Amino acid sequence: MIALGCDHGGYALMQEVKEHLKSKGIAFKDYGTDSPVPTDYPIYAKKVAKAVASGRCEKGILICGTGIGISITANKTKGIRCALCHDVFSAEATRQHNDANVLAMGGRVVGPGLALMIVDTFLATPFSGEERHINRIAQIEE
Ligand code: RB5
Repeated sequence: MIALGCDHGGYALMQEVKEHLKSKGIAFKDYGTDSPVPTDYPIYAKKVAKAVASGRCEKGILICGTGIGISITANKTKGIRCALCHDVFSAEATRQHNDANVLAMGGRVVGPGLALMIVDTFLATPFSGEERHINRIAQIEE
């Protein structure tokens, strides 16, 4: 189950992400926002972060205008490793090296074509499981 959250700046792109996940048969839970009316990104970042940190959802996707505010907020929750990615290389690397469990993007930064490639890469790439990466991830929580 993938937890989804966005503010008004990410609303349009999130509709594309939802359609894409549906077309691939990937289950998701939508934590809002549910319209393009201006709202506050921390609300949705915290909901998605809690869903992932608690284990209710396996991964999360967050979108605001830049991806910055929503990723900063998500990373305040213990156990969340939220990666702001606007390219496919970073999406792959953050899964392999950081075992990132939440992807953040900026709806005003990337178009849907690239964003959906980033989503696919993030969801499909496994953590490398290499000891050096396990050790570094452990140090994040120290
Ligand atoms: C909203 O205008 C915008 O500030 C927000 O979506 C995000 O970009 C914040 O980091």
